[in-house]
Amino acid sequence: MKILTSPAKEQKTPYTYVRFDTKEVTMFLENAQGRSMVVHKDAKSPQTQRTFRTLVRFMVRTAKSYKIEKLALAIDDIITDDVLKNYTRAHALQTLAENLLIADYEFTTYRTSKTREKYVAEMLLSGDLAKEDLEAIARGVEIGTAVNSARNLANIPGGDMTPRTLALSAQTLAKGTAVKVTVLGKKEIEREKMGALLGVSRGSVEDPRFIIMEYWGAGKGPAKKASGKQDVGTDEYRPVVFIGKGITFDTGGLNLKPSDAVLDMHLDMSGGAAVIAAVICAARLKLKKNIIGLIPAAENMVSGESYRPGDILTTMSGKTVEVLNTDAEGRLVLADALTYARKYNPKVVIDVATLTGAALVALGQHASAIMTQDEALQATLMKLGEESGDYVWPLPLWQEYKQHTKGTFADIANIPVSGARYGGAINGGMFLTHFAEGLTWAHIDMAPRMTAAPGDHLSKGATGEPVRLLVALAIHY
Ligand code: BES
Ligand code: MN
Ligand code: ZN
Repeated sequence: MKILTSPAKEQKTPYTYVRFDTKEVTMFLENAQGRSMVVHKDAKSPQTQRTFRTLVRFMVRTAKSYKIEKLALAIDDIITDDVLKNYTRAHALQTLAENLLIADYEFTTYRTSKTREKYVAEMLLSGDLAKEDLEAIARGVEIGTAVNSARNLANIPGGDMTPRTLALSAQTLAKGTAVKVTVLGKKEIEREKMGALLGVSRGSVEDPRFIIMEYWGAGKGPAKKASGKQDVGTDEYRPVVFIGKGITFDTGGLNLKPSDAVLDMHLDMSGGAAVIAAVICAARLKLKKNIIGLIPAAENMVSGESYRPGDILTTMSGKTVEVLNTDAEGRLVLADALTYARKYNPKVVIDVATLTGAALVALGQHASAIMTQDEALQATLMKLGEESGDYVWPLPLWQEYKQHTKGTFADIANIPVSGARYGGAINGGMFLTHFAEGLTWAHIDMAPRMTAAPGDHLSKGATGEPVRLLVALAIHY
């Protein structure tokens, strides 16, 4: 979709306009000949940012279903006084652009016929637009594009999206931006002693990768005279580190998943995809911030070389982990990434992972779970989640839960020794606290938002969450 702008108020010929009749509470499509079609009987003028977002998406999905190639919308019709009650005009315009693009997205990479891409090819926004308005729209286009690029990465089937190709994709996307991508292969991962990442990947013929994306938008500070090393120690330069789970396919390993549960597991690198897209987006927005993305990438497979239930892995931190379930692999690869993150002396560390089915049980499909022991960070995440549209909701990481992470023969177990089935999402978060000690850190279990839910008005498959939240965090810190 191409977003165009025009100051003209009168209707232009090739375009079909979306109109709202606030008295009749209807939304209708009207072409230049004045023929109109009511498509929504209950289109109340949008009252909150939440309903505003879904109305924008509904509008685009409807136009697509009617095979409309050129759609137009008068800005004043959709950005009403209600929408502007709690948010600035710039934020509303950015949100509008984001959601137009997100609603338009289809995963067409594998389709031989591209006819679907004709609808909606052009979106005309008409109305008086100041320079700041156009900037807000441009920002929304950049963020919406990033969300869709995360969806493209995630939706690619597991056979084509391996740790190697995920790393290549990160490098390709970074071309022409100021993002520096470094990819550690198996040998380098061994040298870093990332025993957990190596353990998980052992059953696959595809070697693991550890993808490092660096964007030094704030610079590294003046070089220190004594060491010649650049100073990232002062707050001004300390980076924000995003860690994304990059399991390119999760069979469960020897604790094999049942058939139905394996089907979507090419999406188990959605956290990694979101981090890649967010770092690229930060660079394209030319943020004056330092942002690092770390993606431990591996395939969790079944073979004679797979790591076994009962195996004990030595993580990069030196701590040992007993693998009581090979399907709890996400927390293992994240453990090594959290340790690696310390090299950057980060201001804040956020990990994003499709970590547990239990997060879905807890929250349903409409919010990602966040876990942190830092109250201020929790409040920030909730506020930015609400503003960006990537909704999050907290679960506790209290000390009471810590007993369940103890191992029998190793320091830590990757699932409760007792086999307790309760609080699975929290157990995942508590496991990670062992590797996040001393860091300002939050964990986002995005399993609930891995795929589009009914009412989202999004195409099937990956949602591209929480790219919008990560970009908002990058701007905030
Ligand atoms: N990738 C899965 C979690 C998942 C399941 C994400 C469904 C999205 C949809 C993760 O690696 C996993 O298998 N978790 C286990 C943990 C259990 C073994 C403690 C789970 O949720 O069953
Ligand atoms: Mn698993
Ligand atoms: Zn997994």
